[in-house]
Amino acid sequence: MDQQELLRNNHFQLFNSDACNLLKHYLYDQIVHTVVTSPPYYKKRNYGKNEAEIGWEKLEGYLENLVEIFDLVKLHPRGSVWVNIGDTRDKRGSLLGVPHKFSSLMTEHGWLLADEVVWAKIEDLDDGETNGCCMTEPAPGRLNANGFEMLFRFVKTKKVSDAWSDTCAVRIPRQQASSAQVVRYLPEELMSVTTAIDGRNLHNVWRVKMGQTRRKHFAVYPPALVERPLAMTAPPRVCSKCMEPWERIVVMEQYDEVRSSKRVFGKYTSDEDELSEKSGRMDSGRQYISRKPVTKGWQPTCTCNAEFAVGVVLDPFVGTGTTGEVALKMGRNFIGIDLYKENIDISTLRLEETIEILKNKKLDPFQDQLFK
Ligand SMILES: C[S@@+](CC[C@H](N)C(=O)[O-])C[C@H]1O[C@@H](n2cnc3c(N)ncnc32)[C@H](O)[C@@H]1O
Ligand SMILES: [Zn+2]
Repeated sequence: MDQQELLRNNHFQLFNSDACNLLKHYLYDQIVHTVVTSPPYYKKRNYGKNEAEIGWEKLEGYLENLVEIFDLVKLHPRGSVWVNIGDTRDKRGSLLGVPHKFSSLMTEHGWLLADEVVWAKIEDLDDGETNGCCMTEPAPGRLNANGFEMLFRFVKTKKVSDAWSDTCAVRIPRQQASSAQVVRYLPEELMSVTTAIDGRNLHNVWRVKMGQTRRKHFAVYPPALVERPLAMTAPPRVCSKCMEPWERIVVMEQYDEVRSSKRVFGKYTSDEDELSEKSGRMDSGRQYISRKPVTKGWQPTCTCNAEFAVGVVLDPFVGTGTTGEVALKMGRNFIGIDLYKENIDISTLRLEETIEILKNKKLDPFQDQLFK
């Protein structure tokens, strides 16, 4: 059975290896649609005793090693790479600026920085309230810096808009999130974050709870942080022959916003015919016509006329397998790499468990079209 077939039957594959080595010598041919990962942060923690472990080099070497790994991935030409990365301080207490040095080096290597998301763990409001929580830390004469982390999205297209994305999958509901009118992208048991396929455009600050892990591994990220990146950039359907992603067929339709709670999406028009009793804008005098994206279905973008397969997700620093669990639940195939066998064992169990849970619930997100 070749690599491709194996993935198609099993839905996941885990490798105990140095990511760079494996991508260079074994996975060089494996098309990947989306990478979602969190590499070891700079000089933060030891995961084991292997010399190939990333994080303890000189800063320049660390950044170069990371970029080399992403360069080595055989990313689909319209694919995306999401990297969650944190900062480190030097002896004087100064931040090194690791996340932004990393994103600069990626762009020097030809990547486009498509999205820059702040993963807010806590926010301090001006009325004295706080939302969320984060780790406390000794912060002599400065702020607790654990309130947020960066999540970058890189693409390799000529323009950001040429990359494959399904923004409808991550839109914000126009109604109360609990309303029956909200058309979720995926049922709650497969994706915990509430999104609405005809909702408003998603912003770039996400408050996602830290989450807890019963697993013996630190520095894990919560599944909810991974869901939106996968929904938005990992195609649920691709051509099994050429791996081209299918696309959502969307038309913008006028809707009666009176019934929805917030007016936020639409466009202005000067078309006389459309001047109804709707509210106008004082400055331009033009009428506001509320429109929303309405999905008419999905279609292949190639002419192979082949069966469908699902998109392929890679995490080269798999740790406890969070990206893998989310990918499987969302019906994408997954490849994970970690330098330490212990982590591969933890991830294997977790992903087998996930497949088992899906089976027990009689959910088959790989075959049945459970996404909207
Ligand atoms: C921050 S953790 C990832 C945690 C993961 N996101 C999760 O939710 O569990 C980084 C991982 O990178 C692994 N690692 C370090 N150097 C590596 C290398 N050269 N190749 C592959 N994995 C490596 C570590 O063993 C560790 O599990
Ligand atoms: Zn095709």
